[in-house]
Amino acid sequence: MAHHFRKDMVIYQIYPRSFQDSNGDGLGDIPGIISRLDYLQSLGIDTIWLSPVYKSPNADNGYDIADYKAIQPAFGTMEDFDNLVAQAKARGIGIVMDLVINHTSDEHEWFQKALAGDEKYKDYYIIRKGKDGKLPNNWGNFFAMCPWSKFGDSQDEYYLHLFAEKQPDLNWHNPAVLEEVKDIMRFWLQKGVVGFRCDVINILYKNTLENGKKQLALTGREHYLSTPGCHQILKTLRKEVLDEFNAFAVGETVFVTLDQAGDLCNEDRGELDMVFSFEHMGCDDLGLKWFKTRLSPKRLMKTLVKWQTGLAWNTNYFENHDQPRFISRFADSDGFRREASTMMAGLTMTLRGTPFIHEGQEIGMTNGNFRCLKQIQDIESHTVNEMAKSLGIPAKMRWNMIRRGTRDNGRMPMQWTDGPNAGFTTGKPWLKINGDYKEVNVAKEQLDPDGVLNFWKQMITLRKTDEALIDGDFVPVMVSNNIFAFERVLNGRRLLSLCNMTGKAVKLPAHLQSWDKKIIGNYTTGTAEYLQPFEFRLMEESGE
Ligand code: NOJ
Repeated sequence: MAHHFRKDMVIYQIYPRSFQDSNGDGLGDIPGIISRLDYLQSLGIDTIWLSPVYKSPNADNGYDIADYKAIQPAFGTMEDFDNLVAQAKARGIGIVMDLVINHTSDEHEWFQKALAGDEKYKDYYIIRKGKDGKLPNNWGNFFAMCPWSKFGDSQDEYYLHLFAEKQPDLNWHNPAVLEEVKDIMRFWLQKGVVGFRCDVINILYKNTLENGKKQLALTGREHYLSTPGCHQILKTLRKEVLDEFNAFAVGETVFVTLDQAGDLCNEDRGELDMVFSFEHMGCDDLGLKWFKTRLSPKRLMKTLVKWQTGLAWNTNYFENHDQPRFISRFADSDGFRREASTMMAGLTMTLRGTPFIHEGQEIGMTNGNFRCLKQIQDIESHTVNEMAKSLGIPAKMRWNMIRRGTRDNGRMPMQWTDGPNAGFTTGKPWLKINGDYKEVNVAKEQLDPDGVLNFWKQMITLRKTDEALIDGDFVPVMVSNNIFAFERVLNGRRLLSLCNMTGKAVKLPAHLQSWDKKIIGNYTTGTAEYLQPFEFRLMEESGE
């Protein structure tokens, strides 16, 4: 059955806390988003993925949900939400909700009832007795903490949480949990949302709680990544809920392999429409994201080619609320902010798959200039710091790891103007404003036809209208230390995407110089022989 998934979609992620404050409390909110819908429409996007706006105690900024059918009061009311859906729709924009169903908040009614001794709700969670005074198993945790915490006043019972202590994992062996989630999804679909971004969806179903084989991170993961039980759940949700509403689903799938992604997105199986894979996000780390090295453009390109050729349809993303800003990750992009950002626009919009833009990416926002741990809010940065401390890693080294890798880099308030607090709030922003806001902001970009924003706009329009970019095959042409070249081919029409992934000018091989028609590029000067620093060009053969 056809569903809301369309190949010409361009999706924009809003992290509601950081987008636009409307009432001066320093937190972004839904009325703030509504006030920026015209901006988003002019950008040309057609779908908004909203990071969680549900009621939450914010242990993990809303990824710990206390009530799946209520709006976080600081973000507004249900009326505001309905208004957002309607006003977005009037502008041709659909809303995608974040579906966080691996865990709830410990403040969710279900967990509270479980704590009060209600057996029905105890079975919604994963609660186990310790073994001879020890934890139920040897598993690891995504926030580098212990995944087991004492269950209430119990002397020997623990509950599993693969994330923070306040995020108890749901028990997907219990069919009642599936029924609850179906009901939640229908609730939002009936309000007119067009789909879901499914949080860590490939870890839902734990095969067993046996010890795992020891690994550098997340020991035990072989027992829960893309299990048959997980596939079964996704099939059910697709058939019984999503299809009924023509809705689509994009899954966040941690550690996903190409084969697993192929299964999860296989149309005949009917599970997800697409997944966020992570391999390309690791092109500047040494196996763990906290241990970063220089970004290797070649490693990045090779990984992109692997996924582009190995999977029928990808999500093309380089930033989100869990990642540092991508242009800051090119170690040598200093002084080339504009060029690096526009080149990434070119790359994102010419790869095959659905492009995702993270708020602020379209104006070339960069990593935060955080000075100390106190300025950082993200729970993960703090738990990782504790873990590193316990391993004896010295303070300076810890801070370097965190400064570079903290998720707060991608969560800094949106920079709208060069006025107070970058136009984000009239109050005290929940997270510091990036020091570059006088230079980097929407208002300034809007006055500059040759700016970053206008280039993103042009690329979005092209991506949405050119059939070869929408559905053409991906054909890799060249991966060198600097140059990424690939074709998009549809019905004999060939487009060539050329990216210089470095801050150094580089000579093009002769066969890439001969394409004579330039559709668009991020430089107006230059010659056919060279790609300038971070130059992007989209070429076509004129056929003459
Ligand atoms: C992935 C989300 O993107 C991240 O922000 C969150 O911390 C975890 N899942 C847990 O929900």
